[in-house]
Parts: sequence; C-alpha cells; structure tokens
Amino acid sequence: MVHEAQETTQSLKVIDEARQGSVLYKEEWEKTASVGAKRFYIESYGCQMNFNDSEIVAAILYEAGYLPTRQLEESDLILINTCSIREKAEETVRKRLRVFEAVKRRRPGTLVGVLGCMAERLKKRFLEEEKLIDLVVGPDAYRDLPNLIRGAESGQRMVNVLLSREETYADISPVRLDSNGVTAFISIMRGCDNMCSFCVVPFTRGRERSRDPFSIVAEAQDLFMRGYREVTLLGQNVDSYKWQNPETGSIVNFAQLLEMVAQIHPRLRVRFSTSHPKDMTDEVLYTMARYDNICKYIHLPVQSGNSRILALMNRTYDRPWYEERIRAIRRILPDAAVSTDIIAGFCTETEEEHQDTLSLIEWANFSMAYMFAYSQRPGTLAARRYKDDVPEEVKKRRLNEIIRLQTAISLRHNQADIGKTFEVLIEGDSRRSDCDFCGRNSQNKMVVFPKKEGYKPGDYVYVRIHDATSATLRGEIV
Ligand code: 5AD
Ligand code: SF4
Repeated sequence: MVHEAQETTQSLKVIDEARQGSVLYKEEWEKTASVGAKRFYIESYGCQMNFNDSEIVAAILYEAGYLPTRQLEESDLILINTCSIREKAEETVRKRLRVFEAVKRRRPGTLVGVLGCMAERLKKRFLEEEKLIDLVVGPDAYRDLPNLIRGAESGQRMVNVLLSREETYADISPVRLDSNGVTAFISIMRGCDNMCSFCVVPFTRGRERSRDPFSIVAEAQDLFMRGYREVTLLGQNVDSYKWQNPETGSIVNFAQLLEMVAQIHPRLRVRFSTSHPKDMTDEVLYTMARYDNICKYIHLPVQSGNSRILALMNRTYDRPWYEERIRAIRRILPDAAVSTDIIAGFCTETEEEHQDTLSLIEWANFSMAYMFAYSQRPGTLAARRYKDDVPEEVKKRRLNEIIRLQTAISLRHNQADIGKTFEVLIEGDSRRSDCDFCGRNSQNKMVVFPKKEGYKPGDYVYVRIHDATSATLRGEIV
C-alpha cells in the first residue's frame, strides 16, 4: 500500500469527520493522518473481549495506513468480527453479510473480511459458503492483516486461522473505537483451557495464555493519564491468570495483578470479568476488600443449579461448591453484588433439575443475570457426547421462567438500594435524555440522575437513590 503522509490540518479534519463520535487518541490520528487514505469499517459481535479485539485490529490497520469510517458506503474494507457462542449469533452475522454483499455489488473494489470466532470455527469452509468474502482471519492472526489485505487486493482470497500459544497482542495499544472516554476494557489473557462441554470458545480462541502484567499496568496508566477513570480487565477465566517472569521465574497471579492495577491511582476504578467458580480464590476477595477502587461486583456464571447437570457441563464444581463461593463473597465483601450466566434446557435436563436452577437463583439473590436457552455447537464435547433432547418449546418455557424470576429478583435487589447514597462515576448522557447523566456504582448498577452545573463525564459524584426498576436506579446528586 502506498500512502503519502501529509500531515495537514485538512487531513485532520477529514479524520475528524470519519470519527463520527468515536474517540480516537489525537496523537494517533496525527501520526497516521494521510489524505486519501483507505478506510475500514468494522462491526463487532459477541463478548467484550471481541469488541476489544476489534480495537486491536483498528490499531493494526491504523499502523498500516487505514483510517476508520462509520459509513459502509465509503469503506474500502468491511470487517465483521464475529461470535460463534450460539447459533443465533452466527445467523445474525450471515444476515449482515447479505447487506455487505449489496454494498460490494455497488462498489466492486470493496474488500470484505470475516474475523473472530466464526472465522476460526468455519475456516476455509467460509470461503466456499460465502462467495463474496475476501478474507477469513482468526483471533490470533490479526498481526497478519496488512499482509492478507495486500493478497486480497491482488485478487486472491486470503485465510489465516492459525491459533497461537503465545499471542497476547501485549505490545499493541488498542484504538478506542466507540469510547466514552471514561471507561475502557483491557484484555489480560486470551483463550480458554476449561472445556465446558457446551462451549465453543476453546476451539475458536485456542489455549489459554496470560499477558505480561507490566504491559497491562502500562496500558491502564496510559488510559488514566488520558482521562479514563475505569478499566475492566478481561479474560475468559480471569482467576486462572498466571504469568511467569522469564528472567526471575517469579509468578504473578490474578490477585497480584489486580493489586498492581489498583495501585495505579485511587481514582482509577478497576473491574474484571469473567470469574470461574472453580478458581475464584479468597485471596482475590481479600484484595478486593483492601482497595476501595476495586469495584465490589463479581460476575460469577453458575450455568445451572443442579449438580448432575453441572457435571455434564464439565464445570468441575457442584452446587454446594458454588454456594460456598457465594457465602465467601458475602462474608469477605458484604456489600458486593454478584451476577451470573444461566443456560436453560441443557442436554437431558429434567423438570426437577430446572427447578434446582430456579431455587439457586432465588437463594443467591443475583443482582443481574444473562440467561440463554442451550444451543448445541458443532464440535463441542456436548455435541459429541450428549443428545440435545430438550424440545425447543420446553427450553423456551424454562428460559422464560428463569427470566421472570430473575427480573423480579433484580427489581427487589434494586429497590433495596432506595434511600442509599452511592459514589457514581459519570459515563455520559443517559440514553433516554440529555438532561440526565448516567454512570455506575461500585456494584455495577446503572444509575441515572439529572445533570448539575459543574459536573462532567469522568467525575465521581454522590447520588442518593429515590427510584428503581429491574435494570436501573434513579437518584439525585447530593
Ligand atoms: N448455548 C447457550 N448458552 C451458551 N453459553 C455458552 N455456550 C452456550 C451454548 N452453547 C453461555 C454461557 C456462558 C455465556 C457467555 O454464554 O452461559 O457463560
Ligand atoms: Fe463469542 Fe465466545 Fe468468541 Fe466471545 S469468545 S466472540 S462470546 S464465541
């Protein structure tokens, strides 16, 4: 690719228009600004990690001279970062590909690339199934993108879906694409070694590996200096974070990493996701208790309330173990909120076992939950070993019962906050009204409150709660 690096004010304006509300670091656009640069458009699906990967992809493309755009019609390169977790996620992606196909018909030179988990799962087959695709790139191959794009520009269809045991993109500082300028995600590890029987992730994202803690701390420090006030450390299973210093042999575990990030500044909040019940240690809980800026919120997916189903899911804990972990949280962090993930209608689940999930939800008093009907994924342990024998309408009914119960519990949980005052980090305007701000409390509850003179996003404010729904708290600055 040939670009003329003309750093003029006009080029900055062009880039500024391309941003369309997304926050890019100014220094970065100045560094790479060039008139007539090619433009990429990227759309992301799936987990937060996937969105963070898109920011890494943006950084790699930036370095290669591409600029981001929000306009499909003006892009030279359309990328879709995909998710394979449930069939529905893949269907959504296929639908979007039809839209891109139409754009490509109108603008024949446009390249279309599929990134992420679906690229990894389907590999070369994708090119046979989808005739318009020029690039198929798996989650560990993003550094190769400039190369692959060059190949595609010369008319070849390019694939790189190699998984790596080492790649953590530690040295790449993500371009914050859709940032509010206050909160950001930092990937601390990649892949997953757990082998939950329902889950496609170990196949799409490969083996677990942890990122150098010093690069994590440097990224968080940099964000703080740029005005960010909250970082969320991301991993499929943060509790198994483990980094060995190649020189000294000493090991940094997750509790220690958490502490290193928390010590950057008391005004930099630290969150993390996701914890695994089998690995979540008291050491992490005690570290959380010691630092006010480590948010008192734990996302602890349980999946099912029944021990037989948990064994089939290969979660390697049973219900009593999970209950003990919840008790440890209540003991060590009395004001912490816990949320969870639930799967309804896993293979062979009986009505009674479904009732166990309902009773666990009631007992645990989760502040929130992500709830799904089981979706069989090709290649997983469950797909190979068990029959997906719970009829679709039974799955749906069980899921609805779970959602109904959890919504009532979330409402009760939130109503218990009425009258309390929380420290809230202002993230920006509320979605409903630009007369209101929104932000989260330490427990990760969204709080909406009227704006007040002198306050701006990135400020911490005290808000007294006077109202609650199952999803939001409402209050006023005090
Ligand atoms: N079907 C339904 N839900 C699933 N999840 C993962 N795999 C599946 C599947 N095959 C859910 C789990 C996990 C969350 C990210 O997605 O609850 O914690
Ligand atoms: Fe989807 Fe899982 Fe891949 Fe994230 S890791 S994009 S949730 S399949």
